[in-house]
Amino acid sequence: MKYAIISDIHGNAPALRLALDDARTQGAEGFLFAGDYVISAPWSNEVIHLLKHTPSAHFIRGNDEDHLNVPDGDDGQYEVSRWCAGNLTPENRRWLDTLPQQITVSCGNVVIRMAHSSEAFVGKSLHERFRTSILPSRYPDGPVCRDTLLQDFRSLWEGDAFRRHIQRLPKGVYVFGHNHIQTWADYDGRILINPGSCGLPLDCGRFGAAYTLLTIENGRCSVEERRVPYDVEALISQVKRTGQYQSARVWSETIFSEWRTCREKVFFLLQHAEEYAFRIGDPRRPFARETWEAAYADFHAVSPEQYPYLYV
Ligand SMILES: [Fe+2]
Repeated sequence: MKYAIISDIHGNAPALRLALDDARTQGAEGFLFAGDYVISAPWSNEVIHLLKHTPSAHFIRGNDEDHLNVPDGDDGQYEVSRWCAGNLTPENRRWLDTLPQQITVSCGNVVIRMAHSSEAFVGKSLHERFRTSILPSRYPDGPVCRDTLLQDFRSLWEGDAFRRHIQRLPKGVYVFGHNHIQTWADYDGRILINPGSCGLPLDCGRFGAAYTLLTIENGRCSVEERRVPYDVEALISQVKRTGQYQSARVWSETIFSEWRTCREKVFFLLQHAEEYAFRIGDPRRPFARETWEAAYADFHAVSPEQYPYLYV
């Protein structure tokens, strides 16, 4: 049995179509979707339509499905989530609300466990040490390339403490997403797979729709990471013609920047907006639209030294 594992699509239906087509060409018969289907690119309804029409598919929910519960208002901070929530059909919203946090899928004697965050399986030991906010201090000399990032990941995963934790888990496959970094490892029959982000990869300069193939034959597993390239500038041109771009320009532009660089930007924009609002003495949260837009302009005026991880 060959599974395609796909996570963190974030409304990017064109990327999902490419991943699904590639997976079928590669002989995938089953599909495991690890959450975060909505928010960021403007095609969440199209994504859900594709998901519902994918046969032999299993789903869990991600944290962005919860971010659809955005308060009413005209602030800038939540404008992309509000636009997405307002454009989802009621039927699609109900479908998302039915998704479980975790599932288990059996293939012969191999058990596949799936949760959106690795925290469900390995606690904070992995999740905390690679969360976006610490990347600048982890790589203070500036932009990190994918090989360095993965080497660093491996050195953490191969540490004694992490191994001891993993070896307490039952043997089987553990699927998660959430940090948008594609990677996998096998610890004596405990196989960890993060397929990366299909729609918004943030693993430092490896472009294209990310997903991972898992083949199970006679109780043995093999893993292949896939990346399907596409034209990011053409995608950005499409987004500029949507209502999301009109309603949520700052968010959309920030996502364009993430697509162009495969690096986190949103976290740093939020951090900068907090500093900016404090500087101008605006205590309103979520950020008022004018503060949000001014903070975005100010964010782009800062020197590369202040946010070295952002610049490539
Ligand atoms: Fe995500």
